[in-house]
Amino acid sequence: MAPRWQVGVSARAGLRAGCQRAETMAMPHHRIVILTGAGVSAESGVPTFRGPDGLWEGHRVEDVATPEAFARNPRLVQGFYDQRRAALGRVAPNAAHRALARLDAQWPGELLLVTQNVDDLHERAGSTRLIHMHGQLKSAWCTACDTRHRWEVALLDWPPCPACGTAGRMRPDIVWFGEMPHEMARIERAVMACDLFLSIGTSGNVYPAAGFVDLAARAGARTVELNLDLSMASQRFGESRLGPAGELVPAFVEDILSLC
Ligand code: APR
Repeated sequence: MAPRWQVGVSARAGLRAGCQRAETMAMPHHRIVILTGAGVSAESGVPTFRGPDGLWEGHRVEDVATPEAFARNPRLVQGFYDQRRAALGRVAPNAAHRALARLDAQWPGELLLVTQNVDDLHERAGSTRLIHMHGQLKSAWCTACDTRHRWEVALLDWPPCPACGTAGRMRPDIVWFGEMPHEMARIERAVMACDLFLSIGTSGNVYPAAGFVDLAARAGARTVELNLDLSMASQRFGESRLGPAGELVPAFVEDILSLC
């Protein structure tokens, strides 16, 4: 199938020059930042957040994704994320995750993949230059000693913290509404320094991620959105390509890498 997007002539020439400079000077010139959202995992069978019914796996977001919800009904919230964590064993990375991992492996310049997703499909595909800005299902946070631990099993039974031994203080390492996303300083630095900002499968409803395109555009980056439908942020991108990530992302990556 033909790719549904095209790199403009000047962008193509610029990227080619950047790739050559990267080879000859051993100092990458072109910097790519990629933001992903739930849409990149949709074809793997992970439900998006804002489906037509407005519910996330049958729950209102404010009933399972706020500190207040956790304080009100910790068993509901722990059980909800325990189920999401267990469900990761039944899904696998798709063509979009694999293409982004290939770009990570082969791009000679700087690259940072910032995901809002709490699944582990980017790393299972092989991406390494990756930040989970909204946390991860496979991590637990001890609020007693402020340590984070790789976590594969349930939290509902309030296991003790492996570091301090306190029971009842381990919670999902998920950034809920009203909490500060991870590594914001590093992300903003990368966004403001990038030449290409690529957004994939996100509705543009949730800040600060929805504002990254403005930071990148102000800094002079080329901004590209790949999404199934027009998003809340589409008007602020230089280019929007519509279609499934499993088709658009491999084509985009192929084109970028073919310039090197
Ligand atoms: N390919 C590309 N895009 C897709 C696909 C697909 N196969 N399927 C769905 N999409 C698009 C939808 O059109 C939508 O614009 O992905 C987007 C998903 O949007 P949301 O469900 O709002 O998810 P996201 O933008 O990641 O949500 C951001 O909100 O609830 C919080 O913390 C949560 O990280 C999440 C944040």
